[in-house]
Amino acid sequence: MVRRQKLYEGKAKILFKGPNPDTLIQYFKDDATAFNAEKTAVIEGKGILNNILSEHFMKGLSSIGIPNHFIKRLNMREQLVKSCEIIPLEVVVRNLAAGSMSKRLGLSEGTVLSRPIVEFYYKKDNLNDPLVTEEHIIGFNWATQAELEEIIAIALRVNDFLSGMMHSVNIKLVDFKIEIGRYFEDEFGKLIIADEISPDSCRLWDKLSGKKLDKDIFRQDLGNLIDGYKEVARRFSVLPNNSVSGLKEVTK
Ligand code: TMP
Repeated sequence: MVRRQKLYEGKAKILFKGPNPDTLIQYFKDDATAFNAEKTAVIEGKGILNNILSEHFMKGLSSIGIPNHFIKRLNMREQLVKSCEIIPLEVVVRNLAAGSMSKRLGLSEGTVLSRPIVEFYYKKDNLNDPLVTEEHIIGFNWATQAELEEIIAIALRVNDFLSGMMHSVNIKLVDFKIEIGRYFEDEFGKLIIADEISPDSCRLWDKLSGKKLDKDIFRQDLGNLIDGYKEVARRFSVLPNNSVSGLKEVTK
């Protein structure tokens, strides 16, 4: 076990100081929260599965030139990532109506949208991450007009790529959330995807049965969350060999 200096603890992850000033170590916890932490649980093995799945999706994005913070996985719960200045937005892309969109607009869950819809939520827990418009983003200087255009382009590219990845394993990508940060190389900043891409941050439905394989299992009390996440990992051939419950921890 290596001693780490904690910089920030969120609901599902902890960020530690990395070996260089421009890196961080991202630790995936087993904590699950929903509805802004009104509902909480510790689900053994969730952090391990999210670490491995986020690695898999980020590497996929890198392979087609979509910049992201992932550098390498260090062990079963930690990955080395690039340190960036997070833009305080949750960028959501939706292909089918579900979750808060269904509720807000009275659409039945699973309604196919005529085109992918990009939404922005202001990252502020004490306000419950409110939905905001492009006007707010520019008006409050959370991002510039040029950054906003690039964020939308990145979000739609991620949607196309991830939808295809999911399709190849018979999963429907209903929606997902990404976070984007400014990464500075020399004095030039560029936008990169940060945080995680995992069944915590996506809605994933089995194509044939419609079964939910994502955090809605926990949000809606639909059964065993780990079984859903393991199924996603199994389909992408990244499920660790160690039997789960004991998805064993291996620390390098
Ligand atoms: P929503 O329907 O609850 O707005 O969620 C849209 C997508 O964003 C869904 O895939 C789950 C994900 N999400 C997060 O990753 N973090 C959050 O805090 C919320 C509310 C949603």
